Amino acid sequence: MKLFYAAASPFVRMVWITALELGIADRIELVDGGTTPMDANPALAEANPVAKLPTLVTDDGEALYDSRVICEYLIAEAGNDTMLPSKGPARWSALRQLALLNGILDAAVLRRYEGAYRPAELRWPAWDDGQRGKISRALDMLEGDMDALGGVTLVSIAAACALGYLDFRFADEDWRASRPKLAAWYDDGWAKRPAMIATVPTGWSTQSAPRP
Ligand code: BEZ
Repeated sequence: MKLFYAAASPFVRMVWITALELGIADRIELVDGGTTPMDANPALAEANPVAKLPTLVTDDGEALYDSRVICEYLIAEAGNDTMLPSKGPARWSALRQLALLNGILDAAVLRRYEGAYRPAELRWPAWDDGQRGKISRALDMLEGDMDALGGVTLVSIAAACALGYLDFRFADEDWRASRPKLAAWYDDGWAKRPAMIATVPTGWSTQSAPRP
C-alpha cells in the first residue's frame, strides 16, 4: 500500500498511528504528498481529484480517502475487532465521536490555512472566532464525556491527534485550562504512547518513519 502523507497533517497522523497500533505500518510505503489548498500535488490529484491528505492506494490500486475510510480499511486489513465497533449502538456513538473530532480538526486546519496562507489584509476575524467556537464547544463536550475515550480505539486516536494538533499549531491558546480531565487523559496517558511520540508533527519523514 502507498500512503500520500505530510508529517504536519493531523489526519495523516491519525492514519499512521492507527497503522502503528495495528502493527501493519510496515506494509505501507509513505509517499510525500506535499500540497497546499492553492497548488495540488499532481500525483496526489491523479489518485484523489480533491487532492486531500491522506490518500491511500491499496495493493489492488484503489485510492481510498478520507482518513476515517482509510482507518476502517486498515482495521479490516488487520482483522482487528476492538478499535471500532462493527455494529449496534456502540458503533453509532463511535461514529458520532469521530465526526466531532473530525470537526475539531477541520476547524483547526482551516484556521491554520487562514493564518498561514491568506494575505493579512484579507483575513476575517469573525470567521476565525467562529472556528474557535466550534473547537471550544467540541472540547467541552469531550470533557463531559470522558467514558468515550477509554482504550486504544479509533476515537481515542482521533482525540489524541486533535489535541496534539492544537498544541502544535495553537500552543498559545490553552485548551487545558477549563478541561482538566481531558488534559490528564492526554498528558498522563495518550501523549506518552510510543506511536504518539514517534509521530510528533515535526519529527518524522519518509526516511525516519516510525515502524513496528
Ligand atoms: C499544517 O501544516 O498544519 C497542515 C499540513 C497539512 C495538512 C493539514 C495541516
